[in-house]
Amino acid sequence: PVIRREDYQPFPWLVPATRLEFTLGLAKTIVVSTLQIERNPAAQASAVLRLDGDGISAASVTVDGQESSGWEMDGDSLLLTLPGDAHEVSITTEIDPSANTQLMGLYASNGMLCTQCEAEGFRRITFFPDRPDVLSTYTVRMAGSQADFPVLLSNGNKAAEGENGDGTHWAEWHDPWPKPSYLFALVAGDLVANADSFTTLSGREVDLAIYVRDGDLGRTRHAMTSLIKSMEWDEQTFGREYDLDVFNIVAVSDFNMGAMENKGLNVFNTKYVLADPETATDGDFDGVEGVIAHEYFHNWSGNRVTCRDWFQLSLKEGFTVLRDQLFSQDMQGEAVKRIEDVRILRSAQFPEDSGPLAHPIRPDSFREISNFYTATVYNKGAEVIRMMRTMCGPEAFRQGTDLYFDRHDGEAATCEDFIRAMEDGAGLDLSQFRLWYSQAGTPRVDINLEHSGDTATLTLKQTVPPTPGQPGKKPMPIPLRIALFDRDNGSHEGEQLIVLDQPEQSFSFGGFASSPVLSVNRGFSAPVRIARDISDDDLVFLAAKDDDPFARYEAMQDLIVRHLTAASSDGLDDYAREAARRSIAQAFEAILTDETLDDSMRGELMMLPGLTYLLEQQQVADPTRIHEEREGLKAWLGARFEDGLAKLHRRVSAVAYSQESASRGARKVKTQALAYLAAANGALASEMAAAQYDAADNMTDRQGALMVLTGLSTERRSAKLLDFHERYSDNELVVDKWFALQASSLHPEAIEHVKALADHADFNIRNPNRVRSLYMAFAANPHAFHAADGEGYRLIADLILELDPINPQTAARFVPSLGRWRRIEPKRSAMMRAELERIRSAKNLSRDTFEQVARSLG
Ligand code: ARG
Ligand code: ZN
Repeated sequence: PVIRREDYQPFPWLVPATRLEFTLGLAKTIVVSTLQIERNPAAQASAVLRLDGDGISAASVTVDGQESSGWEMDGDSLLLTLPGDAHEVSITTEIDPSANTQLMGLYASNGMLCTQCEAEGFRRITFFPDRPDVLSTYTVRMAGSQADFPVLLSNGNKAAEGENGDGTHWAEWHDPWPKPSYLFALVAGDLVANADSFTTLSGREVDLAIYVRDGDLGRTRHAMTSLIKSMEWDEQTFGREYDLDVFNIVAVSDFNMGAMENKGLNVFNTKYVLADPETATDGDFDGVEGVIAHEYFHNWSGNRVTCRDWFQLSLKEGFTVLRDQLFSQDMQGEAVKRIEDVRILRSAQFPEDSGPLAHPIRPDSFREISNFYTATVYNKGAEVIRMMRTMCGPEAFRQGTDLYFDRHDGEAATCEDFIRAMEDGAGLDLSQFRLWYSQAGTPRVDINLEHSGDTATLTLKQTVPPTPGQPGKKPMPIPLRIALFDRDNGSHEGEQLIVLDQPEQSFSFGGFASSPVLSVNRGFSAPVRIARDISDDDLVFLAAKDDDPFARYEAMQDLIVRHLTAASSDGLDDYAREAARRSIAQAFEAILTDETLDDSMRGELMMLPGLTYLLEQQQVADPTRIHEEREGLKAWLGARFEDGLAKLHRRVSAVAYSQESASRGARKVKTQALAYLAAANGALASEMAAAQYDAADNMTDRQGALMVLTGLSTERRSAKLLDFHERYSDNELVVDKWFALQASSLHPEAIEHVKALADHADFNIRNPNRVRSLYMAFAANPHAFHAADGEGYRLIADLILELDPINPQTAARFVPSLGRWRRIEPKRSAMMRAELERIRSAKNLSRDTFEQVARSLG
């Protein structure tokens, strides 16, 4: 059935208190849940209590202490007819965590028990009103084997513990903060902790612990540092303090997503906890810092103020992503972090917004909510709130968020509540801005700059494209930070903020004797596509001189995107290609030699636009042609700048390893330089890469070198791949890298490698990290995925069909890659579509996969 936002009704019953008793076992866990319930005066009265379930059955039901027979099943739900206004309902269920391959609810992972309840996993543990607007105070008692489960954790504070004298022990946890069921968590296992403490602004002593498997303790330091920094930052930046005496994090190898913000007990994918220089790249360090912060920040934006229903998901996710982005900007420097975040948005969210799965950041309907944990809800959601902040400034924004937290603390709120708090607290008028919550699709802004006399006139036109279910759109407010450069002295008179809120608008600027160069959407102030009428020369100017780092990066990207798009969609003769390449080379040279640039930023500027983003630029794209043009340009630049790149590689190779910015920047350009050289001179690059691999004292350099080698057909390729596997065979996360490197490789036979890897002894379809490391990497590698004979499509469709009965949530995540069929040239398009149809006709498809396939076929 389709669930609609407009159908929201409050639940007829309140559940002020919940007691859960677990008798733990890997193959059999018994759950007794006792709910104090009373009528909800704010809802329409009903004698029936409807409790959600999923794949469970009740062994017994009691009402007010009496065995009840007045209950029945309606599909997966348990219905109980109740006579009075307040009752105690107790239900016993029995579950098998070891058979739970979906990894939703209570499941077993490497001998430990853990939970994932968001969005609707709690109903796989016990019958409950499993919806975010039913808040309850939880007391949890668990008992189990002391040997198997020495550590017993749940939400809140530990109230009591003891031994039973028969080899079992127990613990009781109490969480004083009312919460929805999706924030419940339980962990039981043989774990060790990295313990520390934090004193909050008002003097609360908080015990911090990060629980991992015995051998992993040495790789938890970065996560702990990140946690402490997050706690400090949220106090200083948003005035948010922690509210319990303990904060626990547990790392789990089998996990569907990145991590989960359960109250006082965050459960994490090991990928976002474990890091040391030997086994984690600089990118991995950033991932740990960002996700630790994200989950911690949810304690306020998510837990203290939660969501009324799942259509409001962006209320907590968009806002929390913005909070973690601002935190990382403060930790690592704004320029590079902003560029990285925009790159993620454009490679993951723009394709979503322009395809069959497009939806507003606040969706109107769904079949399976798991399918809406998307880049749109998360990353575009963050951009929408960031625009509010840009329009009112950081101080007013803080007043808005203070009011929001104040007003809605302890409540299940809506996006509308957030918007209103921003209007009242930050002083914004958001009446038209609300359209960003209801309209899907990436707006396109066409920009034209005219100059006459001493006046420059900027004319802007916006178009919001039609998306499924939304044929016509209204114009939205689009805040654009702009600057007009004097092309002779290379400077500007200050940045301005203009807000385009009409279909078409002009803005005039006086005092320009000659025509200025326009820098627009600085800092990526609005999540839109800009189509600007600008010459290559002006782009070269901006790529060399713009003082806004994002705009500078953007000029370079634009220059290359324009060229590659033209080159791969016909009509570029050798002369024109040569001219475009010369402009690019001019900007590239400025970037290589600019001594005022730090290497981190240099690395961003040197980066070629990704294939996915390039494909996205064309209505109907030919992946092979774009790939070849991109490789052609890379080889041309590599040859032209061979000496400069080799010199750069030598310079940065002398920089010692640390997590300081200069050292990280050195590693970034080191591998970039190698990649360009590899395209131009394979023999030289292979030698340099092998040397970089051998000399590496950290994973960034080693993986970078191996990445370059993996793309080359050289004997060193197999030797180093073998070495890497042997060296790190006992480290799951590094073996994941080994799979991903080969699946995302530019090697001409990448697809054959992927097929072979599927039969590798280390491949395990039940482990989401491993599945993603092979198949997500492959599906995101257009040159391999779009193999002309359709083999890549078949591979992904076969995977979806095999994985769907095991882990539907993860299986459904592969559908969007095939869903791009309308935007690919006709031959491939037909094959992609045929694979989607083959999936749709399969029997017993999960709701997750069915919904994505049906929407993709349109
Ligand atoms: N709330 C989590 C986060 O943003 C994501 C959990 C989603 N899990 C899921 N199975 N859908 O960090
Ligand atoms: Zn989140």
